[in-house]
Amino acid sequence: MLKGKSLIEPMDLSVEEIDEILGLAEEIIKNPEEYSQVCRGKILATLFYEPSTRTRLSFEAAMLRLGGNVMGFSSGESSSAAKGESVADTIRTIACYADIVAMRHPKEGAPLVAAMKADIPVINAGDGGHQHPTQTLTDLLTIKTLKGKLNNFTIGLCGDLKFGRTVHSLIKALSRYENINFILISPEELVVPEYIREIMVKKNINFKEVERLENVMEELDVLYMTRVQKERFFNEADYIRLKDSYILDKEKLKNAKEDMIIMHPLPRVNEISVEVDDDPRAAYFKQTKCGMYARMALIMKLLGVEK
Ligand code: NCD
Repeated sequence: MLKGKSLIEPMDLSVEEIDEILGLAEEIIKNPEEYSQVCRGKILATLFYEPSTRTRLSFEAAMLRLGGNVMGFSSGESSSAAKGESVADTIRTIACYADIVAMRHPKEGAPLVAAMKADIPVINAGDGGHQHPTQTLTDLLTIKTLKGKLNNFTIGLCGDLKFGRTVHSLIKALSRYENINFILISPEELVVPEYIREIMVKKNINFKEVERLENVMEELDVLYMTRVQKERFFNEADYIRLKDSYILDKEKLKNAKEDMIIMHPLPRVNEISVEVDDDPRAAYFKQTKCGMYARMALIMKLLGVEK
């Protein structure tokens, strides 16, 4: 039963629950009109203490397309956080007004604190360099839609694997599906955190860590590019040195499989050259669209509303 639950990280959902959410998202994609009023009278609050385009607006679009209403703030500066209010107090207040909350915060664990204090579902929309479970639902829906399965493939995750929360959540989630090979492509300074590596080791999952994208390109069924997370660096010089470690262009795709898909949670900075956008393998804008449907399904499940 998902009704009333909060979603802080992918492991809060069983594989069956994830499949249920993705199944509902696929239904909504097929028959959007049938779902256009299911959240009538319900309110989603989006509490965003960090910049966002896709995640916040796709949550809002999701709720509006379900017939519900939205309210919220898009920076900590425009909320009482600027006066020093704690997340715990803010969430108690918002829980008086809204039925469900999506929260993004620069501090790891802030949405978990909120979930513990709130009597309504809280969805983690990204906490620092930690987790981003709704991007993962988005990514899983994209892979399922475009590859027709969530097992038996090789995925290359490339870029900032240290601070990239979308990568951490996606590895966690995929670690429970059958026969996924992970190829982790990053500069040495930006390898995955130890707790993520441990998950793969403990579960005996096939993975390797490499530095050069070109060397593994031909093995990949899915290539997941990521941005170097500027806002998490302590040192500007390190960011400048590492920011253009990978730039995917047509030349680098020469050895890629015909049916590989290229994903990116976006925003992109330089990691994917715009010349790749016309390649039939480029899936990142389709992925963005999947995000809205995945969030529609999630909101319905957590609120316990049905068609
Ligand atoms: C990602 C994020 O915020 O973690 N973006 C997103 O939610 N679509 C990735 C990023 O900012 O690089």
